[in-house]
Amino acid sequence: MTLDPQLRSDLASIVEPQLVRTLGELHFLGALDEVDGAPRVELILPVTGWPNLALLEAAIDQRAPGARVVVRSMDDDERLGLRNFLRGAMAAPEGPGQHAHADAPPRFLDKLSKTRVLGISSGKGGVGKSSVTVNLGIALAQAGYQVGILDADVYGFSVPKMLGATNDPIVLGDTVIPTLVHGVRCVSMGYFVPDEQPVIWRGPMLHKAIEQLVTEAWWDEPDFLLIDMPPGTGDVALTLSEVLPRIEMYVVTTPQAAAQRVAQRSAYAARKLKLSVRGVIENMSWFTGDDQKRYEIFGSGGGAQLARELGIALLAQIPLETRLREGGDSGEPVVVSSPDSEVARAFTALAATVAAQGPARVYRQELKLV
Ligand SMILES: Nc1ncnc2c1ncn2[C@@H]1O[C@H](COP(=O)(O)OP(=O)(O)O)[C@@H](O)[C@H]1O
Ligand SMILES: [Mg+2]
Repeated sequence: MTLDPQLRSDLASIVEPQLVRTLGELHFLGALDEVDGAPRVELILPVTGWPNLALLEAAIDQRAPGARVVVRSMDDDERLGLRNFLRGAMAAPEGPGQHAHADAPPRFLDKLSKTRVLGISSGKGGVGKSSVTVNLGIALAQAGYQVGILDADVYGFSVPKMLGATNDPIVLGDTVIPTLVHGVRCVSMGYFVPDEQPVIWRGPMLHKAIEQLVTEAWWDEPDFLLIDMPPGTGDVALTLSEVLPRIEMYVVTTPQAAAQRVAQRSAYAARKLKLSVRGVIENMSWFTGDDQKRYEIFGSGGGAQLARELGIALLAQIPLETRLREGGDSGEPVVVSSPDSEVARAFTALAATVAAQGPARVYRQELKLV
């Protein structure tokens, strides 16, 4: 038996799921030969423990049944080459054969980009901001969108645990490759903080860290980039308004009047930064008992009232649901583990609403002509 001359180009066309580029483009495909009558395929990967190795092996086996895959890790030059390719591919205008300088800013930052940046914020902690970020992000991915999540809540990084992201992100020099989990790409600032060490984020350091993770991580050009923001209205909102002026803010609150007042303050502060506040998401709205009755444990009306005061829509009411908390603790978000539950359906509907309302019109005071 001799190797089919077509085989190399067949294998080179396999798309790597995390980087959404072909093995050929990524230079992941090494030597191809035949050993004891079976094809042997060399993969050259950034790290030998590449998270999607099993998927790549399966795709290779489909095209070359019985093939043996051997993996070697890239040397420094190859890693730099990959870094430059990825950065260039993320920066280039879309279309085949387009190239951009590896250090050009990513395409998704451009005001004409399709990417919508959703800042998930709240007045105070504990209202379910991270749970909303994670489940909304996955619901958007389930609807077929490319989704990234940046965990920027410096008071408590919780997104990786909620997503069940066990792999650390892969770092190629200055370029971070987000972890792909449940169909969303995720980077947490928490990955870059030493374990168990409380960090006092001073303004400039915080600004730099966020700017780097926004502009230098491999987000490619997602349809949605969700940002789990710290509660309140601190430095992070200010930085984001500078780095991502197109960010759309979504405010999470509970039905309680007290929570709604705190949320209102943070929404007004966001508007002072000229950020577009696009909608209110009320969480913990009720608990549906076995008797199918709705119990309004935290009162009612807070979300609707906040929306009215801000002159924007109440986009969703998310019920209290034990499985949501369990899913967050176990890393199996409820939209994955119980997609038919009342709470998961609320997230699916929210994703459809957010997608349907389209990007914000950029309204900037400086652009006013009169
Ligand atoms: N709708 C809900 N039903 C049940 N538990 C919830 C719900 N929303 C949030 N939780 C739980 O409440 C806690 C706080 O939620 P979290 O998303 O971490 O809030 P935040 O990010 O605003 O601090 C978590 O343990 C979470 O699982
Ligand atoms: Mg949180």
